[in-house]
Amino acid sequence: MYTIGILTSSDTGSKGEREDGSGPAIKEMVADIGIVSAYKIVPDNRRIISETLIQWSDEKHLNLILTTGGTGFSKRDITPEATLDVVQRLVPGIPEAMRQESLNVTQTAMLSRATAGIRGETLIINLPGSPKACRECLEVILKPLKHGLDILMGNSSNCAR
Ligand code: MTE
Repeated sequence: MYTIGILTSSDTGSKGEREDGSGPAIKEMVADIGIVSAYKIVPDNRRIISETLIQWSDEKHLNLILTTGGTGFSKRDITPEATLDVVQRLVPGIPEAMRQESLNVTQTAMLSRATAGIRGETLIINLPGSPKACRECLEVILKPLKHGLDILMGNSSNCAR
């Protein structure tokens, strides 16, 4: 079982003006691969998001961080940039797969600028903001994600024969 953090980026959610439906939706979906040991709602603020990602990676040593929200086009949407500020290695295949499969559900999937990358031994993945979008994206990545985490943590040998 891996340790997982859920970081919700939402100006209104952080002020208590909107209930976060995405955090609980993600928690339910990841129950099979790990334990959610950190959960926070932060404003759409680049510094606060990146500092939280650094703290959860370097101090809490979480294996996986799933962010939700702030991946779109609004002027305040800044989660991908905050993520790129802190990751050391990119994992483009994960957001590529999320967008590719999500396009079969809704054409607006192309509007998510979600990214993913690795900081140390922590994999960070952006998900869009709505609970529905989180479920659709996680559905696509969960199975290969478990394999990727096994390799990142050294729990699985190299796949090359
Ligand atoms: N992806 C899936 N699978 N399902 C969705 O409903 N919504 C899209 C997109 N990705 C959606 C999706 C929409 S409408 C937007 S604007 C972008 O994600 C960005 O969302 P965000 O700003 O809440 O992160």
